Amino acid sequence: MRLSDDFISEIKYQNDLSDIASNYIQLKRRGRNLVGLCPFHNEKTPSFNIYSENGSFYCFGCGTGGDVITFVMKIEHLDYMEAIKFLAQRAGIPLPEDDFDDSTSRMRTRIYEANREAARYYYANLYSVQGKNALKYLHDRALTDKTIRHFGLGYSLPSRFELVDYLKEKGFTNSELIAANLAVPTRSGNSVVDRFFDRVMFPIIDLRGNVIAFGGRVMSDIKPKYLNTSDTMVFSKSSNLFSLNNAKNNKDRSLILCEGYMDVIALNQAGFTQAVATLGTALTDEQALLMKRYCDEVIICYDADEAGQKATARAIEILRRAGIVVRVIVVPDGKDPDEFIRKNGDKGTAAFKNILNNSGNDIDYRLFKLSSKYDLKTTSGKLSYLSDAVKVLATVDNAMERDIYCSKLSDQVDVEKNSIKEQIEKELKKRYKSYKKTEFSNIQKSLSAREDRVNTQHSSYIRAAAAEENLIAFLVNNPDKCEFIANRILPADFVTDFNRKLFIYFTERINEGKEPMTAISADFSSEEISQVVRIITSYSTITATTEALEEYINKIKEEALKCSYKDKESVSNDDVDDFLKKMRENRR
Ligand code: CTP
Ligand code: MN
Repeated sequence: MRLSDDFISEIKYQNDLSDIASNYIQLKRRGRNLVGLCPFHNEKTPSFNIYSENGSFYCFGCGTGGDVITFVMKIEHLDYMEAIKFLAQRAGIPLPEDDFDDSTSRMRTRIYEANREAARYYYANLYSVQGKNALKYLHDRALTDKTIRHFGLGYSLPSRFELVDYLKEKGFTNSELIAANLAVPTRSGNSVVDRFFDRVMFPIIDLRGNVIAFGGRVMSDIKPKYLNTSDTMVFSKSSNLFSLNNAKNNKDRSLILCEGYMDVIALNQAGFTQAVATLGTALTDEQALLMKRYCDEVIICYDADEAGQKATARAIEILRRAGIVVRVIVVPDGKDPDEFIRKNGDKGTAAFKNILNNSGNDIDYRLFKLSSKYDLKTTSGKLSYLSDAVKVLATVDNAMERDIYCSKLSDQVDVEKNSIKEQIEKELKKRYKSYKKTEFSNIQKSLSAREDRVNTQHSSYIRAAAAEENLIAFLVNNPDKCEFIANRILPADFVTDFNRKLFIYFTERINEGKEPMTAISADFSSEEISQVVRIITSYSTITATTEALEEYINKIKEEALKCSYKDKESVSNDDVDDFLKKMRENRR
């Protein structure tokens, strides 16, 4: 279903891109544009630009671009129709009824509904006769009924048809239940069976309150201990966090990152609502960027075992890269936070608060880990420690903070502070160089990869493509010149196919009296949109004169002409005359 241009225009008009974007990132004014750190990739220097004059954005680092609709699609992981709905609701614009029956977004809605019904069903089981053991299990783990209700915990019965039958009764189809991963097809493929049975159920809820998945724990030693919903149309385990819906509202802009569901729930019960956990996988860059929207600091509180400590080292890297301040706590006696709080009984909250207050930042933690690797009583031990420690300190961006550690280190190993400082400076330079190099090569890579995918002919016809892009940018920024341009150049004159397609698209829209850019997020793929925005915004600041326009047109025709001879084996004298004649005609 196609939405009217008027409706899309209204959506865009009522939802200012810079307003929306500033809910997710900090923006600074630079000339006519706003700039900030890109929310779609990790970077230290801002290359994300918002062009207020035409309501578009473009990141020179990762090449992502588009309008406010594209922005919401990407940042909220929504499809086109859902993004429209999101923006319409935000601005209080009523939706045109029939346009929203698009099949993917209808399926997603059904999955949310099925998950919600399933969560209700599992919760009710817990308080039924058959759920007695499960409820006892949770009570034995010191969870109160209030906590159980708050997290909507539940129980899946030891049968393979209970939920399936219940939800079918409610009108859900087999394919909807399979799409939600609440059911799996039987081997014959003729029917479906419950995916979860005889497990304590943990619903996973997104930031808008939708149940998007479940984790299910056995109450015995059967493996796997946890079974989680596989990725579905509404759930990706690498881009969501357990309990972020509860944690996001904390005033301190500080989150506690744990390993497990039970840790988060125990911490919540003890009053630490800022706890979140990954969903059975290692922390990803995407999750770090997501956390960054709600916090400036993350306190890592993984299990004290070796696996937990390895995961801590990895998480530190990822969080730091996202520009988050990191602290680390290790609960005493090899416990996880859940056990720690339980063992401390009534004093659980105070005990955990105590660890929290005494937690060092990640630099302390890393230095501590390093120092325990070496024998600091020997000279060689000291030197090895020092050379590793210098590398750690070189990752500290703030000079004052570096200086403090320098003093500490100097006392610890009894080495002149200045010589340590010198080593750090050297390491810093090295790091800076390699950082710049990777950043540069990433930009290069993404630029060339983009061109290859969207306009595959770009690298073969660089000059023609550049002139075509200039002309398209001119056209979009000066729609009143459309007729003039159309009289001077035809789509057939274009050398590269993608730019020809853009030229036709924009001239048609302008001829129909429509604003050229309004519908791009409906009409092009996300890679194409990025390319379009790059083309339009890169040239919009150039003072567009009619002379410049003539220049672009001539260049395109000239290149097209050259191309038509390029493929010939040999060029005759007649060809040359013909070529020169056409060139003269072009210029006229
Ligand atoms: N996990 C998983 N699949 C497994 C084991 C673990 O998805 N087979 C995930 C779960 O999200 C779990 C987390 O990894 O919460 C941490 O695992 P673990 O430390 O083993 O479990 P706990 O959270 O401590 O659970 P419990 O206290 O109930 O044993
Ligand atoms: Mn545990």
